[in-house]
Amino acid sequence: THENHALFIIFGATGDLAKRKLYPSLFRLYRKKNIQSHFAVIGTARSTWTHEHFREVVTESINSLHPTKQELDEFINHFYYQALNVANTDEYVSIQELAESLDETYHLEGNRIFYLAMAPQFFGTISQHIKSEGIMSEHGFNRLIIEKPFGVDHTSATQLNEEISAVFDEKQIFRIDHYLGKEMIQNIAAVRFGNNIFESLWNHAYIDNIQITLAESLGVEERGGYYDKSGALKDMVQNHILQIVALLAMEPPTVFTDEAIRTEKINALKAVRVYNSDEVKKSFVRGQYSSSDHHLAYREEAGVDPDSNTETFVAGKFLIDNFRWTGVPFYVRTGKNMTEKGTRINIVFKSTPINIFRSIDTPICQTQKLPENVLTIYIQPTEGFSLTLNGKKIGTGFDIDPTKLVFRQSVENLENTPEAYEKLLLDCLNGDATNFTHWDEVEQSWKVVDVIRHTWDDETVDFPNYLPGSMGPKEAFDLLEKDNRSWVWEPNKN
Ligand code: BG6
Repeated sequence: THENHALFIIFGATGDLAKRKLYPSLFRLYRKKNIQSHFAVIGTARSTWTHEHFREVVTESINSLHPTKQELDEFINHFYYQALNVANTDEYVSIQELAESLDETYHLEGNRIFYLAMAPQFFGTISQHIKSEGIMSEHGFNRLIIEKPFGVDHTSATQLNEEISAVFDEKQIFRIDHYLGKEMIQNIAAVRFGNNIFESLWNHAYIDNIQITLAESLGVEERGGYYDKSGALKDMVQNHILQIVALLAMEPPTVFTDEAIRTEKINALKAVRVYNSDEVKKSFVRGQYSSSDHHLAYREEAGVDPDSNTETFVAGKFLIDNFRWTGVPFYVRTGKNMTEKGTRINIVFKSTPINIFRSIDTPICQTQKLPENVLTIYIQPTEGFSLTLNGKKIGTGFDIDPTKLVFRQSVENLENTPEAYEKLLLDCLNGDATNFTHWDEVEQSWKVVDVIRHTWDDETVDFPNYLPGSMGPKEAFDLLEKDNRSWVWEPNKN
């Protein structure tokens, strides 16, 4: 069968995600000829739209990509709409009939991708009906793409997984974590496994600590209702941050295939220490933003409980109990309304064993250590790396001066750079699950996160505690200071 012949059935077709990400990504794939005449889309949602109205909405959503008239006319003809109340079996039958006729019209070879771009409470019902009403294809592939959040804790995630697993095999399930579609996240593997100078040092003998920052400059915007039930821990740490930890910490896979990588990521996540509550209290801190001249406080945002204790910021320290990483803290932090949008990873190497450049009269115990070498991976808003190396300051003395070798670019401006969603859709079409999360990974990360959440739920908290535009509450800085370390951070210049 031809992989790129497929019918996309999008549940939640009238929603924000579909409009902002899915239709533009499909159009970009179309423009680059990754999908051509042999694709079709059935959009479904509660609203009773006509095909024409759906096409207008899709047209508007790709406006900023400036399609030519011809491109647009050809593309938009592949879009169809069917209203669906997820509990109403008759409407699934109509979807099935439409799907069959589109199969023929566009020679889709029976390949189907079911995209659930909607609230997870419906995933189970929808999967069930996809099966019972015969929408799964018998002669092509069936793949399911689902969006986060995948459950709200370990128990609910397990239940959700059981529901969809009753219908789809793990191999057919593509769980989106859009960070895994980002260029520089994918580049972590290239940096680690493509450069012997790093991989041979990539362990507790040479690395002092690792720092992962996912800072956001925006507040919760119009998502207050969702966010207030979630909070930064579940919104960012359980998924994006722990995925990044896994990619940084995993053993080298024998070959770069989805299965080999999954196995290594799962092993790494299983070694992340599941804390008890005392350890949580020592290792994790949370924050919530207050108001400032230009910003509402979190508690004043639309959809947010005025007494809310939901955290908009988290910082913490993960430990990985295995041979490679024992004793190396993975410090992480993320928050809303921080100084700037900046996603970065710092690999902080150990300083030299002694500073031989010290003055002969200074006792060794009073000698300043040399600055550490730091490898920084810039994920966004610009992409690249930097490496700080120590050299001699020009002049007559012998002072050591750290120099930063920097390579940064903005892939957005490079022609044809695919967006995260575009890459992930194409991967799914090709049946490549490398950049999706396996159930075992999801399960393990919930175990790690659940104890943090429970510990916090049992404690009182003094919110708000950080100013919009800052890098979070003081506690986040204290966390590293207690360990005689500090966050390595320079503001973005471009
Ligand atoms: C999402 C979170 O998963 O990631 C949002 O739900 C967050 O709260 C977003 O803003 C950040 O993604 P990006 O790609 O803008 O860094």
